[in-house]
Amino acid sequence: MNNFNFIDEELELLTKSGLKRELKTVITGGGPWVELLGGKRVLQFSSNNYLGLSTHPEVINALKSAASKYGVGSTSSRLLSGTTELHTVLEKSLADFENTESAVFFSSGYAANVGVLSALINKEDAVYSDEFNHASIIDGIRLSGATKFIYNHNDISHLESLIKENKDNFKRNFIVTDTVFSMDGDIASLEQTGIVAEKYNCFTVVDEAHATGVFGKKGSGVIEELNLGKYFPVKIGTCSKAFGVEGGFCAGPKNVIELIKNKARSFVFSTSPSPAVINAILKSLELVIDGSWRREKLWQNAKILYSGLKKNFKLKLNDFKTPIIVIYFNSVEEAMSVGDKLFNECHIWAPAIRPPSVKQPRIRLTPISTHSQDDIEYVIRAFDHLAKDIKPQPLGMAN
Ligand SMILES: Cc1ncc(COP(=O)(O)O)c(C=O)c1O
Repeated sequence: MNNFNFIDEELELLTKSGLKRELKTVITGGGPWVELLGGKRVLQFSSNNYLGLSTHPEVINALKSAASKYGVGSTSSRLLSGTTELHTVLEKSLADFENTESAVFFSSGYAANVGVLSALINKEDAVYSDEFNHASIIDGIRLSGATKFIYNHNDISHLESLIKENKDNFKRNFIVTDTVFSMDGDIASLEQTGIVAEKYNCFTVVDEAHATGVFGKKGSGVIEELNLGKYFPVKIGTCSKAFGVEGGFCAGPKNVIELIKNKARSFVFSTSPSPAVINAILKSLELVIDGSWRREKLWQNAKILYSGLKKNFKLKLNDFKTPIIVIYFNSVEEAMSVGDKLFNECHIWAPAIRPPSVKQPRIRLTPISTHSQDDIEYVIRAFDHLAKDIKPQPLGMAN
């Protein structure tokens, strides 16, 4: 009998290298404080619920009322009978939000990236992809069958040299990048990327997952904030982060979206997202657009946290560009030890992030708009308390 011994060997290897993951189970709350199975209460600093909307009463009511009207599940794929009027209204609203002709909604941001990239890009094409792009972009490019060129993180001269060297060997050339990089909290050099794209006649696709709701006057992202729409007509976003719900979308020209609806396998061969979820997103979208005060509070919390941590000379922080605050460590063991102490001694939930998610181990702190000033100051004090066990970082260490 095949007893799958090789699986145990693989699991053991993960355990030995400190890379085996365990799930912690939440039993109440999506707010700043959550209770875990076993009764421990912890202060959440690892969510992407940037505007605190996952527990907003109006979002919850929208979900409930649509479930009462349509049922919980959509029961069919979009192209069969799974498109309710709510799906249609949401896609129109997302297109307006993104200032594009059209939009299509997916069951997750992951599904959006995989579906969109494999639908638009073919095997005769080349894709130039930032080395820190999200896994869902990487998987979408793989699925497209195109030839991939990875440029050094945010290095536009490297991007340009790769394009110059290779572009003539391919039918079309695509540049794909996150706008906000989720694990380092930095922002792509978008204007320069756009200029290079225009110069060499490349198509662009950007992923605004961590920028949606966080940047821009109405909250649609970095492209809106920097007014770069002319370079980036096709944008991917998520409703799982600042929107506090779930799902992903692509906004762009009508013909692009029409093709995606016909060709993206994660759209065509998947059950349509629940109408209840769609109604929750519609409410959340309203709150994102009208809630610039929430964005201001988010940024204020992030600034206080960053400047408090910055005073601690033992910590090597990222530069402050977004509300994603990153503390880098030399080893998995050190990052794990600080993450465990934060959790066990200080009741703060910000686990270590380690390979394969990132090369350099780190703690990633994500303040949200509903953290109180006390919550933020508590985290700063917790790091002061833990600093005695943290080795100073060598100067000039690469991320
Ligand atoms: C940059 C980026 N794109 C896409 C995704 C996937 O989005 P979702 O969680 O909605 O599947 C994530 C989520 O972690 C992300 O960080």
